[in-house]
Amino acid sequence: MAGKDNTSASEIDKTSFFWTGKCGACHPGGGPGEFDRDGELYYDIATGEFGYEKLGLTAADVIHDGDYAFVSPSSGGLSAAAWNKTGVSEPDCFMCHRSAMEVNGGTINNALWRQATLRSLAALVDDLGASVPAFAAAPTAGAGWHSNFVLASLPPGSPPQASVLQIDYQTGIANGELKVNDAGKLALKGSEIVGSPRDYACWGCHSIADTKKRGREWFDPVKDVHYAAFNPGGDPLASQACATCHPSGMDHNIVKGSEMVGTVRDDTDYLGIRTCRDCHLAGPEKHPRAPLPTSPLHGTGDHLDVMSCEFCHVPFKELPAQLVIDNTVTGTSVGFNTDVFLSADPLDPNDPFDDKWYPGFVWKVDEDGVTRLFPTKPLASAWWGDWDDGGTPGVFGDDVIQPVILWRVRQITGNAPLAGTVDDNGDGIAEVNTEAETLAYILALKGNDSHGNPVAARPVLVRGEKVWYEDGGQPSGVNHFELHGTGIKAETTAPFGINHNVRAAATALGAAGSCGACHRGLNGGQPTPVFDRMVLLDPFDLNGNPVYTTPRTSLGINPF
Ligand code: HEC
Ligand code: HEC
Ligand code: HEC
Ligand code: HEC
Ligand code: HEC
Ligand code: HEC
Ligand code: HEC
Repeated sequence: MAGKDNTSASEIDKTSFFWTGKCGACHPGGGPGEFDRDGELYYDIATGEFGYEKLGLTAADVIHDGDYAFVSPSSGGLSAAAWNKTGVSEPDCFMCHRSAMEVNGGTINNALWRQATLRSLAALVDDLGASVPAFAAAPTAGAGWHSNFVLASLPPGSPPQASVLQIDYQTGIANGELKVNDAGKLALKGSEIVGSPRDYACWGCHSIADTKKRGREWFDPVKDVHYAAFNPGGDPLASQACATCHPSGMDHNIVKGSEMVGTVRDDTDYLGIRTCRDCHLAGPEKHPRAPLPTSPLHGTGDHLDVMSCEFCHVPFKELPAQLVIDNTVTGTSVGFNTDVFLSADPLDPNDPFDDKWYPGFVWKVDEDGVTRLFPTKPLASAWWGDWDDGGTPGVFGDDVIQPVILWRVRQITGNAPLAGTVDDNGDGIAEVNTEAETLAYILALKGNDSHGNPVAARPVLVRGEKVWYEDGGQPSGVNHFELHGTGIKAETTAPFGINHNVRAAATALGAAGSCGACHRGLNGGQPTPVFDRMVLLDPFDLNGNPVYTTPRTSLGINPF
């Protein structure tokens, strides 16, 4: 994301305008979709003024302002953010509180219409070709009150984006959502509003993140026993299960657990959420229908002190999830799913069957303050950084590795692998993994972007918990150090928590006396599918082959 104050376009990544349209499709309206970082409305239709004008500034004063600039992700070109054309993005209550969700063949139309409208930025027009304020119109589009809605034709893989939106409130009057009230104004009918949102309202945004990051599946009673438990009628359109465990007060801080990536408000972790322990263990919050864990396995050894409930009860996933994201080759993200690097045999990633995959694990502080093992999907990422050693080579404490903005990487690569980059592992996709390739990219990234500024002063490749840098003292010209223990705030593995898709108890780890799933001593001394499973550490070594670790080596736990 772009800071507020910048001195050149080279410093600007995604600005507030980009974020409101392209990310705001899911990171919803209100707050930063309406107000700039000085607290002014980005654009006030009533007065026809931009927020900066209210502070006495001119367009020339805000050309590099993260709230009022836009840098094209394809060309790097700088322009003014057209808030006067899009309007601002206000809170959209009906998005979550509508009773009737329109779902067609798995596509949630209400979410699609709203998101595609936001993404069109300043390019949206109506039937007559007149400009439509995309941010202001998105809630109406999402409600379905339109007589014409056309999607732009874009290259495959692009998220849907509207080109034409003709708002028509008659559609809402006709389907009974809107009525004309005594004052002659349009109003929502009370019967069309629900207090507790439908699952499809949540899923409209969470499906994309949760399927991609975690292989999560919902609306299937076999793949999630709690979908079945809280939607006994089985009608997916009626289900309100999400809000059963994630209720919310009027502050609308929808309650949450403790995520491990990119979090804010950790002070509210576990406040008000209904966890496994709350519903299933004896206590004031016990759910009347939730069975107690009575099977002897729960009481054996220190099992419940060391392992979370999810550890055993989300034993595997079936839907592939993104396991690797490589931004190094062209500057455009290349993703690899679990089926590429993992398989249905937890001990053998090369097994031909890919219909299942198995999580990794991390230590995490649970609701009751006890640190336990939780399942996770560790996302391995590879990226270019600019390394500032603070003028103290060899002392890591003050070092910063700033990720290089991707449109600038693409300007250097021309959005194609640099000449000489070889596909070592033969999967049809080149990777930057040999020392020679790494050096070639490092040298290239010292070049200038289209604004005449060097892309990085000291480019480094960050991947597989290692940082690769230029070192003239080495015969290869490059060297590396391990990130772990340096204190540098940079990650190559993001642990996405896996907290849903609890399956029937009979499929849990250890079911039917299978102690050998975890205990070598009860597995004929053989490696176990749980503690010796293959967890990806680095997608490409110097030969282009993946590097794995195991829970036993990485977690500091060694069950007998
Ligand atoms: C399709 C919906 C969707 C879009 C589009 C989207 N996000 Fe997200 N994002 C989510 C959801 C849902 C979460 C949080 C919960 C989770 O982890 O599943 C999230 C979480 C995040 C987080 C927190 C941690 C993390 O890495 O997951 C960041 C940062 C983030 N998004 C940035 C962005 C930016 C920047 C954009 C635009 C380029 C964007 N998102 C576009 C749905 C989306
Ligand atoms: C992102 C989804 C979302 C949005 C957007 C949203 N809400 Fe809510 N709202 C919820 C959830 C979840 C609850 C809690 C339901 C529960 O606990 O069963 C809730 C509860 C409420 C309640 C209490 C309802 C009851 O039956 O107790 C009111 C009133 C309310 N919201 C009004 C609003 C208004 C007004 C807006 C727009 C300014 C809004 N909501 C936007 C998700 C949302
Ligand atoms: C408009 C899209 C959208 C809708 C609708 C929506 N969410 Fe979210 N939700 C997000 C995004 C994006 C985040 C991540 C915010 C961040 O990290 O900055 C998020 C965060 C969360 C989190 C916290 C995740 C964490 O990091 O711990 C929970 C829990 C959650 N949402 C549940 C729900 C529920 C339940 C509903 C339905 C009542 C719902 N959401 C509706 C987009 C949405
Ligand atoms: C049976 C209870 C339950 C139901 C039903 C449920 N959740 Fe959760 N959810 C949890 C718990 C518990 C956590 C976090 C546990 C932790 O952090 O230790 C969680 C975590 C999350 C998170 C954080 C990221 C993640 O995926 O783990 C999001 C987002 C979320 N839930 C959204 C939803 C949505 C959307 C729905 C409905 C489609 C839903 N949840 C249904 C219990 C539930
Ligand atoms: C809001 C309360 C609630 C929460 C939170 C909750 N459960 Fe449940 N759970 C239930 C109910 C109710 C049932 C269904 C009982 C029935 O219909 O037989 C159930 C069913 C189950 C079953 C199926 C038992 C069987 O016979 O196959 C398991 C296993 C389970 N839950 C484990 C968990 C785990 C693990 C978590 C945390 C991720 C969790 N539950 C969170 C209420 C809850
Ligand atoms: C070491 C793995 C493991 C852990 C940890 C674990 N479970 Fe279980 N659980 C099982 C297995 C396996 C079964 C199936 C019974 C069997 O075959 O012994 C089961 C069964 C259940 C059942 C069905 C009733 C029964 O006892 O047969 C519930 C409910 C349940 N577990 C909830 C939980 C909750 C809640 C937690 C966390 C407090 C938890 N489990 C932790 C492995 C585990
Ligand atoms: C899902 C994995 C898992 C399964 C299945 C499992 N265990 Fe464990 N068990 C563990 C872990 C992890 C520990 C804790 C080891 C530690 O603290 O170092 C443990 C600890 C123990 C201990 C305590 C011994 C010690 O060294 O502290 C005993 C005894 C034990 N398990 C017996 C069993 C038996 C018998 C079964 C089958 C009925 C079983 N376990 C199934 C994971 C498992």
